[in-house]
Amino acid sequence: MTTAALALRPLGEHLGTEALGVDLSRLDDDTFAWIAKSFAEHPVLVFRDQHLSAKDIASFGRRFGIPRKHALVKYRHPDYPEVSWLTNVEADGRIDWYGVKRATEWHTDSTYEKELPVLAMLHALEVPSKKGGTMFADMRAAYDALPAAMKDRLAGLVGLHGRSSGPAGERLYGADKGETERHYGEVPRPAVINHPVTKRPILFVNPMHTHGFQGMARDEAWPLIEELATFATQERFTYYHSWRPGDQLMWDERATMHRGAGDADPQERRVMMRTIVYPN
Ligand SMILES: [Fe+2]
Repeated sequence: MTTAALALRPLGEHLGTEALGVDLSRLDDDTFAWIAKSFAEHPVLVFRDQHLSAKDIASFGRRFGIPRKHALVKYRHPDYPEVSWLTNVEADGRIDWYGVKRATEWHTDSTYEKELPVLAMLHALEVPSKKGGTMFADMRAAYDALPAAMKDRLAGLVGLHGRSSGPAGERLYGADKGETERHYGEVPRPAVINHPVTKRPILFVNPMHTHGFQGMARDEAWPLIEELATFATQERFTYYHSWRPGDQLMWDERATMHRGAGDADPQERRVMMRTIVYPN
């Protein structure tokens, strides 16, 4: 195949990178190696104008690890269950008005589960005519910019993660967190982790799922979680992705937080395919 020149171009001022010259539907090993290398340094990577089937997305995901099936069967793609639908369009064609509000607080996915995902991907099929973006925060840059005293404080801390049990989870869902098949307990995770490839330190506290720290009273922990979230989501660490149909976006599930902007017209259709990848 003729390879167009592979190149990276910044999308946001601080975060968000476009990968040029890639056709993910005909991905070869060399191009994949370049993508994997780029992704280690650029934790929000976007490929424009991709025309991908669920099969293409599943096989792209499998190159990075094990794409996991959605917990709820109704969201799974019938032929490729490791790809799920992320949409506000119901089976009967009606629009779920609440869809625009879902996941609009900052979070990292599934930090309350035993195993952490490596990355997640979204492929946009239909997007609102304006707004309706997804926002990302660079938790490596946020950590680097923390005052030394805060870095010292965080060094020995272990966060406690539960399902939407943090301050932002309470704000968004309150007592109405929805039923799931599984019961989720509490998972301890260091407040600072290192990136598996680059070893860069990452602030690993998110206000949706982190509800405390080991050995710290709630009165002290709750404001600390809020303070860290406010710090990490300053404009200088964030990127707002404006979707175009054909976008394939992947984000590092350790190095970033994300949220739906929640700013689109709730009546407009939004249809995407999603995959979350776990380590091999
Ligand atoms: Fe999410």
